[in-house]
Amino acid sequence: MDKVKIGIVGSKFAADFHCDSYSRNEHAEVVAVAAIDNLEEISGKWKIPSTYQDYKEMLKRDDIDLVSVCVPNFLHHDVVIAAARAEKHVICEKPLATTIEDAKEMVEVCRKEGVKLFYGEDWCFAPALMKVIETVKEGAIGKILYVKAKETHNGTHSPFAKNAKYCGGGSLIHLGIHPVGWILHFLGNQGKNKVTEVIGKTNGGGKNNYVHKDNSGEDWALGIMKFANGEQAFVEGNYITVGGMDDKVEIYGTEGVIKIDLTFGSPISIYSRPGYSYCIEKTDNTLGWTKPAVDEFYNLGYVKELAYVVECVLNNKEPIYSLSGEMGLKCVEIIQAMYQSNREGKTITGNWA
Ligand SMILES: NC(=O)c1ccc[n+]([C@@H]2O[C@H](COP(=O)([O-])OP(=O)(O)OC[C@H]3O[C@@H](n4cnc5c(N)ncnc54)[C@H](O)[C@@H]3O)[C@@H](O)[C@H]2O)c1
Repeated sequence: MDKVKIGIVGSKFAADFHCDSYSRNEHAEVVAVAAIDNLEEISGKWKIPSTYQDYKEMLKRDDIDLVSVCVPNFLHHDVVIAAARAEKHVICEKPLATTIEDAKEMVEVCRKEGVKLFYGEDWCFAPALMKVIETVKEGAIGKILYVKAKETHNGTHSPFAKNAKYCGGGSLIHLGIHPVGWILHFLGNQGKNKVTEVIGKTNGGGKNNYVHKDNSGEDWALGIMKFANGEQAFVEGNYITVGGMDDKVEIYGTEGVIKIDLTFGSPISIYSRPGYSYCIEKTDNTLGWTKPAVDEFYNLGYVKELAYVVECVLNNKEPIYSLSGEMGLKCVEIIQAMYQSNREGKTITGNWA
């Protein structure tokens, strides 16, 4: 095999950045896409030869090696299991599932069917965050004490994600799962440094939300993770942040501090009176001073993440723990423990890798 043949399930936002990333990879070829809408647009844009309204029809094809799961969260379970039973490797978007039970079943079925299940946490492949991990390993800021990380913006574009049942919750599971996943990748030492305590706080959803009363999931959430070795992390995911998607990380060590700005860190500053077409994800205008992304999909990690997935399939290589289905399951467990902490008003103890 010199090329991995890919079928994508989903046709909108996430499907688009999967297509973009595969299009930059000489070992990847998207041969089909399945979705309930937007098929003409996506297949035309990325020159995908076959389209399907029913993903199960697409899965009958013998020539598909890898399935990209880019559908709403509640469908991840069914699509991943159907793909595994059709003997395809699977890369699933975040969160792995809306419930712990679903996530466990997905991991088990993929293992039983002998296919690889990749969990798509793009932050693990964001070039700035990769560079920072190397620098920390050199000893640049001494021993790590505390990490603070967030993804925030002004609200989801997906109608499915506004509904807690389809999403698995609100901004905590939909956005906060990025910092949770990356912190497990960074501090978790490939599953050896366990998370032992979790705290969560949300504003509850619906009429209790600050801004998005039509979202049944919360629009503001915080979480704390304490690791067995004493390191602590604070995560944030909210939909109340105007001005564009704000992804930031701060790392505090005994000998220094590191601050990373994933989304506003562009080298370009533009002052514009009339505005222009696009700045960064979720900006609602481009007037005055702005800092447009140079290559958003690359800087957020999608391109390198999907190149790594293709490389694993091509060379029959197991993924690193941070990109495995098991890691996706741990992220869902930790997020659900944060929701439990919010409901019960107490710290939840456990042993999460
Ligand atoms: N890693 C990231 O940063 C990131 C960013 C955005 C979205 N995502 C994830 O990607 C997934 C999709 O998000 P999105 O923003 O593209 O959602 P979206 O609402 O924009 O698109 C949903 C897609 O699912 C398809 N779909 C719905 N029901 C279907 C069915 N029964 N069969 C086949 N297709 C069906 C629709 O046709 C549509 O193409 C979500 O799980 C989301 O969490 C990840």
